[in-house]
Amino acid sequence: MAVLEILKVPDKRLREKANEITVIDDNIKRLAYDMIETMYAGSGVGLAGTQVGVPLRIIVIDVDQIDGEPNPMVFINPEILEGRDKVVKEEGCLSVPGFTAKIERFGYVKVRYKNLDNETQEMSAEGLLARAFQHEIDHLNGILFIDYLSKLKRELFLKKLKKSLERSL
Ligand code: NI
Repeated sequence: MAVLEILKVPDKRLREKANEITVIDDNIKRLAYDMIETMYAGSGVGLAGTQVGVPLRIIVIDVDQIDGEPNPMVFINPEILEGRDKVVKEEGCLSVPGFTAKIERFGYVKVRYKNLDNETQEMSAEGLLARAFQHEIDHLNGILFIDYLSKLKRELFLKKLKKSLERSL
């Protein structure tokens, strides 16, 4: 397994729409394991293919590691079938370091996906897992959580980003 490089804003590849995975082969399995390792290395609860420069519809999530019990899950071609009960909570992203914001998401979602054994499955999720699904599936569509900010907060974010980019030059 290997820790992959996580793309950061304003990398344009984060804006690409990822492609469906048609064959789940050893390469996809290796990618999944690398993404899990990368997620843990970054102390994230989720990671999308888009974020490691692989424009394929694959996400990994582990919302249980917070309690010290790792439970990594891989979702291929995930799609939200239904969502309800809007909740506003603080959110961050490994591709948007050093910035968090309160974002409105569904508190409950039902998701359809394929697992690494090429089986189609459905999962209902609430709380942090529901939020992670929506955040990571957004990544596959080139959407970042900062896109939901109000104009004022977005400008504040862009100012912060510009400053931190100048610092790193
Ligand atoms: Ni993210």
